[in-house]
Amino acid sequence: MQQLDPREFRNALGSFATGVTVITTAEQNSDGSRRPVALTANSFSSVSLDPALVLWSIDKSAGSFAVFNDCTAFAIHVLHDGQRELSQRCASSKGEKLRDGEWRYGELEVPLLDECKTLFECRVEHRYEGGDHIIMVGRVVNFERRDGGGKEPALLYYQGQYQQLDQSSAA
Ligand SMILES: Cc1cc2nc3c(=O)[nH]c(=O)nc-3n(C[C@H](O)[C@H](O)[C@H](O)COP(=O)(O)O)c2cc1C
Repeated sequence: MQQLDPREFRNALGSFATGVTVITTAEQNSDGSRRPVALTANSFSSVSLDPALVLWSIDKSAGSFAVFNDCTAFAIHVLHDGQRELSQRCASSKGEKLRDGEWRYGELEVPLLDECKTLFECRVEHRYEGGDHIIMVGRVVNFERRDGGGKEPALLYYQGQYQQLDQSSAA
């Protein structure tokens, strides 16, 4: 069988345009305290309407992998075009990802960003092996259209870059 060229494979996957999300959970410390954890992900996808299921996948080498692999709930935030800086911040393993004042704990005890286009609060329903990733399937227990950023369109990711949605041809 012919060996796939990893760079070409990555480029080929990049031809699938996606939105951008920030996914959050909380690390529970032994002393009872908790720490907000976040990462940028574009692997988000809908799975099922009834029951309401969504999925995303996490790289096993991510710094936050152990926390997400152990959590019971997470929140998915669909970003708008004005949130590129937040997306970059949560896509870096260095520095503080979430700033005080831009989030609060929700019903499932996971951090919810005040601003985003849409928010999905999920309990972990399944975890599946997916090669160098783990596929996380969440049951949506609450969602909110927040339309943060007013009329800002959703942030897009295509060919390894952020892209702006052209809504001029939208009906
Ligand atoms: C647009 C974009 C999409 C990404 N999608 C994913 C993803 O779906 N799953 C994943 O594990 N990492 C994804 N990443 C990479 C993580 O955000 C990045 O590795 C981050 O540093 C992980 O943080 P951590 O090391 O603190 O866990 C994406 C990055 C960007 C910029």
